[in-house]
Amino acid sequence: MKKALLAFAGVALIGLTSSAFADEKLEIGAKIYERAFGRGCGTCHEISSNPQLFDLVKSGKLTRASFEQTLQNGKGGMPKAIAAIMEVGPVKKAGYGEDQAVDALYAYLGSK
Ligand code: HEC
Repeated sequence: MKKALLAFAGVALIGLTSSAFADEKLEIGAKIYERAFGRGCGTCHEISSNPQLFDLVKSGKLTRASFEQTLQNGKGGMPKAIAAIMEVGPVKKAGYGEDQAVDALYAYLGSK
């Protein structure tokens, strides 16, 4: 009985930790979206003639690979963004690498 209870507590704890990590990731993704370049991605992307990032990611039209490539190299009127993303306070605080930061942003865009 005691053993079963312990096992149950263990599983519950693992569940809690992984959801806390998922929340942190989305939270950091949101901060990048709001703060990169000091004005966020939305200042440009919420203009209807520019690519609609939330829709593109949610619908699967913008792949993770293509997303990352644009952030690294820029594209037309889109500035290179990796350096600006790595400057965002919560990214530094969490000790995220580039891959993790891009993951967090992509996950956030797909969650809304
Ligand atoms: C100065 C305005 C501006 C800012 C700030 C900006 N973008 Fe862009 N972005 C654009 C424009 C304009 C395009 C369209 C480029 C083209 O296709 O010629 C674009 C395109 C993109 C694309 C390619 C979409 C596709 O369909 O291939 C991605 C991905 C993207 N932006 C992500 C971001 C993210 C993430 C941020 C914030 C970190 C951001 N952008 C900030 C203007 C901006």
